[in-house]
Amino acid sequence: MADLVLGVLASGRGSNFDAILNNIKNGTLNARIGVVISNNKSAGALDIARENSIPAIHLASAQFDDKSKFADTMLDTFKKYDVNFVVLAGYMKMIPVKVVQAFKHRMLNIHPALLPSFGGKGFYGHNVHEAVLAYGCKVSGATVHLVDEEYDTGAPVIQRTVPVLDDDTPETLAARVLVVEHQIFSEALQLFATDRIEIHGRHVRIKP
Ligand code: GRF
Repeated sequence: MADLVLGVLASGRGSNFDAILNNIKNGTLNARIGVVISNNKSAGALDIARENSIPAIHLASAQFDDKSKFADTMLDTFKKYDVNFVVLAGYMKMIPVKVVQAFKHRMLNIHPALLPSFGGKGFYGHNVHEAVLAYGCKVSGATVHLVDEEYDTGAPVIQRTVPVLDDDTPETLAARVLVVEHQIFSEALQLFATDRIEIHGRHVRIKP
């Protein structure tokens, strides 16, 4: 299948995007980055893109009175850069339904917990790890999942666990989970790049 041309959406520092970029560079991910879009003009992800001569675009719904224009502009931007797969790498905003539908089964998000636990509105970043510790969980982990019209509800593609240690803080747990995020995001993308994914409703199967 044609190489994956990724459209990256990020709101923050961009360590997941950076991990994907490094795996493209080291040859373990058959893809290229078409464009990086952020709702946050000072996002570290945009700096990483610029340092790597990748188109870096600030695009936020607040810039548009008519929200459908925002969705159309995002779609036009993806088209302009030949994007055929969208990656939410720490993106803190809802994706317009029109964009989700245009990339059905071609859009992934990374979540720093084992969905459906500790997912959905308000569960992002530090809040997630705090809730995991408060609950007394013995394991946590990360989920790469297909994006559908709600927050964090799409079918999982890869999930991987990490132990929760007695003396963990949200920061130490976040750091352990982040290592796994960086692994499974690229692994999931490589499965799509090599056409090894079959999707049956909520069940994502990996072809041998
Ligand atoms: C990650 O923990 C990710 O799971 C969550 O937001 C954080 C983004 O981190 N969606 P980064 O910007 O990829 O470093």
